[in-house]
Amino acid sequence: MTLPQKPTIPAPHPSATQAGTPAQPVALITGASSGIGEATAKELAARGFALILVARRADRLQALSEQLAVDYGTQSLCLSCDLSRREDLNGLMARTQPWLGESGRYLAVLVNNAGTGVWKVFADQQAGQIQRDIDLNVTALTTLSHAFVHEARKHGQPAYLLNVASLAGMLPTARFAVYAGTKAYVRQFSEILAYELRQTPIRVTCVHPGGVLTEFMEHSGQTLKGTTGMMSAEAVARLAVTAMLSGKASYIPGVLNKFSSLVRFLPAPVRLRLVERSMLITVQDTP
Ligand SMILES: NC(=O)c1ccc[n+]([C@@H]2O[C@H](COP(=O)([O-])OP(=O)(O)OC[C@H]3O[C@@H](n4cnc5c(N)ncnc54)[C@H](OP(=O)(O)O)[C@@H]3O)[C@@H](O)[C@H]2O)c1
Repeated sequence: MTLPQKPTIPAPHPSATQAGTPAQPVALITGASSGIGEATAKELAARGFALILVARRADRLQALSEQLAVDYGTQSLCLSCDLSRREDLNGLMARTQPWLGESGRYLAVLVNNAGTGVWKVFADQQAGQIQRDIDLNVTALTTLSHAFVHEARKHGQPAYLLNVASLAGMLPTARFAVYAGTKAYVRQFSEILAYELRQTPIRVTCVHPGGVLTEFMEHSGQTLKGTTGMMSAEAVARLAVTAMLSGKASYIPGVLNKFSSLVRFLPAPVRLRLVERSMLITVQDTP
């Protein structure tokens, strides 16, 4: 996609410069308490952003916030929030306002990273888990994207939305029907948003990681047999943030993952079998 203008970061907020205070671009990261979200927080802190760290585990967020203050002098706000609960989700942006209002801070980046999934055949999944995954991976991501676009329109500065999908959103992955389905939504949604917003200073990037060594494996019920082809959260975060700041609409981190993504062009029965086989190289089959 050709972008009409390439925004740069950080950029001064007009109200802040009028007041003579240096402007401070802020990045809000969901799922910042571990894995890719935590690594993305470190990456953005190193690049000079102030941070709003969101997840359920307040102690993890607080520890990260303190570490980033020491390492980079980062200012951050920790918000404990269960994004799969409608009351928590709907109240989140309002909770950021008092802090954002201080010292000319403005919301320049939203990283929709929090996500969950269950590795099991669909018929054996629990209804509550299915609903939680859809609420978090789809509803929360969509609601926060909408609020972010409105906020970015208001301040008018270059703004970046980074949505974390998965290679599973491109490749139909058996035992991950709901998870892969939600990530296919993230992919489609992000692509359309990037197109609709192309004439504005808001850039939308969708990143599609393959296997990443994080707590996700354990939480989703995957038992690893090996780590072939898996990436570190730090490498994924560094590549994703670079793709986001260069205005890429879609990005697959890692050469092997780029190559694997081509499987989507094969006929359905072939790609389903191929993806299943390649998953079972690293992950134990479910009973
Ligand atoms: N690891 C992989 O192989 C892989 C591959 C492709 C894509 N991804 C995607 O990458 C993203 C990050 O996953 P990860 O691998 O870094 O796993 P992770 O270490 O388990 O991180 C998930 C993050 O989401 C947060 N979270 C979970 N449920 C939440 C809720 N209801 N409300 C708010 N926050 C919640 C968790 O924090 P709390 O528990 O503290 O709330 C945690 O910070 C996910 O969207 C995942 O689908 C992962």
